[in-house]
Amino acid sequence: MQLERSTVKIGLERPVKLLHITDSHLTLVDGRDDGRKRALGNRLGGWDKEENLREQIAYGEEMCDLIVHTGDLIDFVSKANVEYAKKVLKNEKILFTAGNHDFSQYVGESWEDKAYKMNSYMQMDGGLGVPMFFASRTVGGVNVVGIDNGYYLFEDWQLWRLKREVEKGLPVILAFHDPLFEESLYRRHTELHPGAPAYLAGCDEEHLLPYSEFRAVQQRPDAPTLRMIEYIKSEPSIRAILSGHLHMNYESELREGLPQFVTGGGFCGCAREITLV
Ligand SMILES: [Fe+2]
Repeated sequence: MQLERSTVKIGLERPVKLLHITDSHLTLVDGRDDGRKRALGNRLGGWDKEENLREQIAYGEEMCDLIVHTGDLIDFVSKANVEYAKKVLKNEKILFTAGNHDFSQYVGESWEDKAYKMNSYMQMDGGLGVPMFFASRTVGGVNVVGIDNGYYLFEDWQLWRLKREVEKGLPVILAFHDPLFEESLYRRHTELHPGAPAYLAGCDEEHLLPYSEFRAVQQRPDAPTLRMIEYIKSEPSIRAILSGHLHMNYESELREGLPQFVTGGGFCGCAREITLV
């Protein structure tokens, strides 16, 4: 396991430890899937993804108060992937929020919108068996809130619910799949992947300009998304953001005192232990 360690100072009497994992991208297939899907079973073939996930969860269970998984647990919807993921998520020490791949049928074959997502959700027979779009858990006096933004968008009902969580009066740690736009992260990702989009939620038009038409349409924030981002940046009880999606480790601040952690792909062994003090 390649374990990053980070600390966030929020004034707790006793430290709380979170293990942040993301992007496990499980690719289990079997004879119940069609040939096109079985071929996807070779994606990210160089890593033992289940073993890495097992090791991360074992570490989190022993060393941390909560394991936070920010999505792309599965790479695509297959019978074996869904069965495996449902078993993993029965572990009550894991708080999960969905990523784009958790609803993907054949990885990028179609325009992914709410109808596409809900079709997959129904096919999985109630998703992955735990709340996928909004969830919260209180641990050691900290409220960890997971919100699905895997298609680069938030919805107004999620903002409404987040405000109810904030009203509980505890420090809030937010967890979602797609990192929010931040200049240094945008630049870093663009340096590492010239010509590719930065895959961030909340890019303004200036930063969408180099994107292909498809990616700009896909990643352009709508009004509810902008409302959510404005709220996140202005609400003082929100103390840190955990995100994934980019398969790289990165840490920066959205504003002074609000760190955003991007944690690398769990499929290749990355994880981040965050100590809240
Ligand atoms: Fe993703």
